[in-house]
Amino acid sequence: MQFTVAIDGPAAAGKGTISRALAQEFGLAHLDTGLLYRAVAVKGGDPVATAQALLPEDLARDDLRSLQAGEAASRVAAMAEVRAALTEFQRSFARREGGAVLDGRDIGTVICPQADVKLFVTASPEVRAERRWKEAGEGSYDDVLAQVRDRDARDQGRADAPLCAADDAVVLDTSTLSIAEAVAQARALVAAKLGR
Ligand code: DC
Repeated sequence: MQFTVAIDGPAAAGKGTISRALAQEFGLAHLDTGLLYRAVAVKGGDPVATAQALLPEDLARDDLRSLQAGEAASRVAAMAEVRAALTEFQRSFARREGGAVLDGRDIGTVICPQADVKLFVTASPEVRAERRWKEAGEGSYDDVLAQVRDRDARDQGRADAPLCAADDAVVLDTSTLSIAEAVAQARALVAAKLGR
C-alpha cells in the first residue's frame, strides 16, 4: 500500500507531535524533513554540495535540534539548489511501501502534491513562542517571539517553495487545542481516508 500524509506548518505549531502520533497509530514511516535542512546547515561547507552528498546517517546527529540549527536551516532552505538536491529523497520516502508521513513546509505544495491527506498545522506566533520558550527553560520570551517571527517571515517570504497551505489542505489551528485534541482531529482525517 502507498499512502502519503503531508503535514506542513510553521515552527512549533505541533507538526512533529502530530506526525509521530499518526505514524505510530497507523504504522506509517515518518520523515521530519526539517532534519534534512538542519543537517545541511550543521555539516557546513558549500550548502549545495553538502545537500547533494547528504547521507541518511547525517539525520541521526545529536546536534540538529537546537534553536541555532533551526535558524541556520531556515537560511540554507531558501536556496533553490539545496531544495532541489533534497527533493528526490523526500519523494521516494513518500512512495515507500506501507505508507509514510512527512512533515515540513512544502510537502503538500511541492514535494507531494498528490498526498492522500494534507494537513496545515498552525498556531499564533505568541503561542508557538511560549511553547519554545518553556521547552528551552531559559532565555527571554520576547527574544524567542522575535526569533519565531523572523523565521516565519523567512520561510514564508522565500521565492522557492515558500511556507503556505496547499489549497486542498485541512487547516488545524492548535493555538487553543491540547496535544490530545489536535492529535484526535488529525487521526480522524487519516482514519476516514483509510476507511477505518
Ligand atoms: O521544521 P524545522 O524547524 O526542523 O525546520 C527547520 C527549517 O528548515 C525551517 O525553518 C525551514 C526549513 N524547512 C523547509 O524549508 N522545508 C521543509 N520541508 C522543512 C524545513
